[in-house]
Amino acid sequence: MHLNPLLTVAVLAILATAHLPSAHAQATQAKSDFHQADVVETIAFGSCYNPREKRHSLFDAILKHRPDVFVLLGDNIYGDTHDMAMLKAKYAELEAVEPFRKLRDATKMIATWDDHDYGLNDGGKTYSKRAESAQIFLDFFKDPADSPRRKREGVYGSYTFGSGDRVCQILLLDTRYFRDEVPRAKGKRKPGTVGWYEPSTDTTKTLLGEAQWKWLEQQLQVPAKIRIIGSSIQTLAYEKGMENWGNVPHEQQRLFDLLKKHKAHHTFAISGDVHFAELSKKDLEGGYPFYDFTSSGMSHTSKSWANAANSYRVGKALWDMNAGLIEIDWAKQTVHLGIINKLGEKIMNHPLKLSELEFGK
Ligand SMILES: [Fe+2]
Repeated sequence: MHLNPLLTVAVLAILATAHLPSAHAQATQAKSDFHQADVVETIAFGSCYNPREKRHSLFDAILKHRPDVFVLLGDNIYGDTHDMAMLKAKYAELEAVEPFRKLRDATKMIATWDDHDYGLNDGGKTYSKRAESAQIFLDFFKDPADSPRRKREGVYGSYTFGSGDRVCQILLLDTRYFRDEVPRAKGKRKPGTVGWYEPSTDTTKTLLGEAQWKWLEQQLQVPAKIRIIGSSIQTLAYEKGMENWGNVPHEQQRLFDLLKKHKAHHTFAISGDVHFAELSKKDLEGGYPFYDFTSSGMSHTSKSWANAANSYRVGKALWDMNAGLIEIDWAKQTVHLGIINKLGEKIMNHPLKLSELEFGK
């Protein structure tokens, strides 16, 4: 049989490229920073732990629930210093807490930071020791030498667990390293507020910074059934006068727009910082209800802060010392958002069907 040489070349070229992903597919094939093939069912999280309070029972309480993953959402120690030797010494105080080490040994522990462990109360990008502090943080949490978090500024990172249709992605944001200063309200505090901040209309103010936003958009395209956004500060609240995403509503909207753009189904946030626990919910325009599940206060809490205004609150705010517990039932396609106290007892439980957290077609 005689083949037309031109046709032969064309056919060979098509065959050669048939199994290669297209340039477009390659460009969108984002990967998580860290991946573990084990499917996770129980994820615990907590924030605001001061070893000097000498109240360690929450670590034992969390351990009773045998979590696959434990997330520290910031204020993991109260460093509050520009002296890096002092910061290291404060981390050493956490290392000395036996129940903390026991929990770390028994689970996969991952972490981001908030202002106090970053090094400065309400600190943002102008904190002069941010790069040094990040190194100490990454060393303490044993990020490997080749960790993507060691190759960029900030400590944000993404983690996927599981495989197939049982992948859970945890996105740990850095709300400190790049954060612009936000103005403080002048005059007397308004009723229901416990802090000084108010929503800013200045859309040049960033919370995450451009590099982290770019990373986040890529990460939202990593295949995952359930996505958990870990933010040290609350993502929905805005009335308390405390630090939260509500102080930069344009950044908050940017997050919601990204979820919508990439049809990020089954996504919710976890947060800390406020020294009490609460669940917040906001119906996103053209989307699904977005939940922000806050657990804060593993060594200390505040009853008066728990009384601060939050019109997105679902149920009651709790001011017992607490940790968050996320239980995934893959077969039933449900997630239970729970709060546990220092005895490990569940003092809040909010079941969610994954089908409630979906964008329309
Ligand atoms: Fe904080």
